[in-house]
Amino acid sequence: MSMSDRGTWGSRVGFVLAGAGSAVGLGNIWGFPTRVGENGGAAFVLVYLVCVIFICLPIMIAELAIGRRTQSDPVGAYAKLRPGTRWWMAGGLGVAAGFGVLSFYSVVAGWALAYIWFSASGAVSGDAVESATFFTDFTSHAPSSLFFTFVMLAATAGIILGGIRAGIERVSKLLMPVLAILLIVLAWHASTLPGAAEGLAYYLKPDFSKMMSFGALNAALGQAFFSLSLGLGTMLVYGSYLTKREGIAKSAIMVVALDTSLALLAGFVIFPSGFSIPGFDPTSTGPGLIFMVLPRLFATLPGGQFFGAAFFILLALAALTSAISLLEVPVAHFIDSHGWSRKRAVVIVTTATFALAVPSALAMGASSFFSDLPGIGMDFQSLMITVWNDFALPIGGLITAIFVGYVWRIDSALEELLAEQAWFPNPKLWGWMVRYACPLAIFVIIFMNIRSMIV
Ligand code: PHE
Repeated sequence: MSMSDRGTWGSRVGFVLAGAGSAVGLGNIWGFPTRVGENGGAAFVLVYLVCVIFICLPIMIAELAIGRRTQSDPVGAYAKLRPGTRWWMAGGLGVAAGFGVLSFYSVVAGWALAYIWFSASGAVSGDAVESATFFTDFTSHAPSSLFFTFVMLAATAGIILGGIRAGIERVSKLLMPVLAILLIVLAWHASTLPGAAEGLAYYLKPDFSKMMSFGALNAALGQAFFSLSLGLGTMLVYGSYLTKREGIAKSAIMVVALDTSLALLAGFVIFPSGFSIPGFDPTSTGPGLIFMVLPRLFATLPGGQFFGAAFFILLALAALTSAISLLEVPVAHFIDSHGWSRKRAVVIVTTATFALAVPSALAMGASSFFSDLPGIGMDFQSLMITVWNDFALPIGGLITAIFVGYVWRIDSALEELLAEQAWFPNPKLWGWMVRYACPLAIFVIIFMNIRSMIV
């Protein structure tokens, strides 16, 4: 490992800043409302919150503890704690997942980028039917989909290469509060639209008959891992930002609270606005939900073009800080474990990611093959979301829990967690969750979902 190469991305910016920069992104503003819409509203929100608090938070603490102890990339971290064993493969899954998630993430980030221009120029209209057609036309046009995907990936790679990551993360210090304020203003405005009450009821009044499928449970679990940047080693890598004095539990709670509040706020914007459109059906809108609903909301606001552009600028920036953290996992791995130069690692990983992003970018109509994979019954992008978000990330979390619970062991982890008398309420409960509750819950949800897919 070359120290100088590793040093460039290890510039200390403070964990909460970096962690929140990674966690807050498309997962909150695009993924959360989309999946709430697809899976029946409020009941999904409740299950999501249960997953965040009882499954993801304990695992985030575990991931951070490994990271702070080992100060290396995921593969190196497991190898350091259990040398000479195959545990490094647990990190390997994370490296693959970083690459896989980024492949579809960059496509959606490209949409956000394009919508800056579409909103500012007034190209996308406030008419609900027209803005839906606009989105479909745009995403089914191969050259533009590929172009914007490429720009987002190139920007991500450029930032990591240029060594200006720390600068970008400082920008996100400003980004979060501005994004939160904008979402609050939009939510308040959306609540005054006709039909808003119906939207709020959909979002807040649980109908549990809609949550009876294991597919929906698995989607909530996967969404929680995805939104919190958990299960693939991002938090492990960011754990090295934590000083002993900061305290892992407090930092983890802050990142989880911030990330979850922003996701919930996004729902308060999207559902009232959506239901103000006559005939709106959240279950059938799919990944275009926010891009179809928001232009109409902006059109009802004075200075809507400005609000629209500002919103998508913030979204693209939030996506960028998350994309950086995704690319960093495989890049750090090839530098740390294979001795590649930073430049070589970034160029090769980004090129490979773009190659896998192409079918996702073509999956919204540009290619009939990728838009409806024969024999699979879904498009390529949905397949990527299922494979990486719904399976790879929670399984990564399950492996982390088993590693910390039974191999590294709770006592050694607690030594790290309680260092310098850090605040840590109920270490016993945490140990119990990591050893029993979290792995069991993840296993049951995934197993039952796979079973329901087969039979
Ligand atoms: N959490 C990020 C978001 O919500 C995405 C991400 C997932 C980033 C996994 C890093 C690791 O947009």
